[in-house]
Amino acid sequence: MIHLHNVYKTYPPDQNALKGLDLDVKAGDFIFIAGASGAGKSTLLKLLFGAETPSKGEVVIGGRNLSSIDRDGIAHLRREIGVIFQDYKLLPRRTVADNVAFGLEVLGIKESERKRLALSLLKSIGLEDRGDALPLTLSGGEQQRVSIARALIHQPRLILADEPTGNLDPDMTRVVFDLLLEANAAGVTVLVATHNLAIIEELNLRTVVLDRGKIIGDFQSPRGIA
Ligand SMILES: Nc1ncnc2c1ncn2[C@@H]1O[C@H](COP(=O)(O)OP(=O)(O)O)[C@@H](O)[C@H]1O
Ligand SMILES: [Mg+2]
Repeated sequence: MIHLHNVYKTYPPDQNALKGLDLDVKAGDFIFIAGASGAGKSTLLKLLFGAETPSKGEVVIGGRNLSSIDRDGIAHLRREIGVIFQDYKLLPRRTVADNVAFGLEVLGIKESERKRLALSLLKSIGLEDRGDALPLTLSGGEQQRVSIARALIHQPRLILADEPTGNLDPDMTRVVFDLLLEANAAGVTVLVATHNLAIIEELNLRTVVLDRGKIIGDFQSPRGIA
């Protein structure tokens, strides 16, 4: 589903964030991207979302080559991807339910159906009674769960999560990973950038380790190494 070959990303003027990445991800995989701050984790996820373009090399997702993709292609690609950011990026003036339903608006799904789907997702994350609240009245953990519901609502084939539990306590971290694992069990491919070694060790799933823009390890079963 994802194929990277000799991928470089240089931010102007000369910040080399990724230096010759080779990576293959199969549909249905759950993969951690580990590495210290500045290793290139966010840059890698941004390339996959089409938010940054590779400086060199080949990035192919679901058959689409991102080096030669146009705006329409990016729009289509993003319909198949759910993104989760560390800082949630919820719209502060929209209700929780509207935030969750946001991705369905661009797909032209009518309002009653958007509401129905948003409420059913809010229910699955235990926030069904907060649909009319504004995001900033929720706790950090609740906001992160809302952002996950938003990423899932259009039934993406791929989820990209950038430090999704960076601000959460261990209980909330567990809730977030249960949601991601549930999506994965339903067939969704999941990539999670994190420096949370405890969760990597606990889940013991394939882990790709970045260091200063290079892959220095790719472990099927990282327990004991993480
Ligand atoms: N927009 C940008 N402009 C210039 N340099 C950047 C930009 N984004 C990231 N970088 C640099 O690229 C490197 C990798 O960053 P990043 O992908 O954010 O790493 P990580 O997510 O692992 O912390 C770092 O040295 C960072 O300073
Ligand atoms: Mg980052």
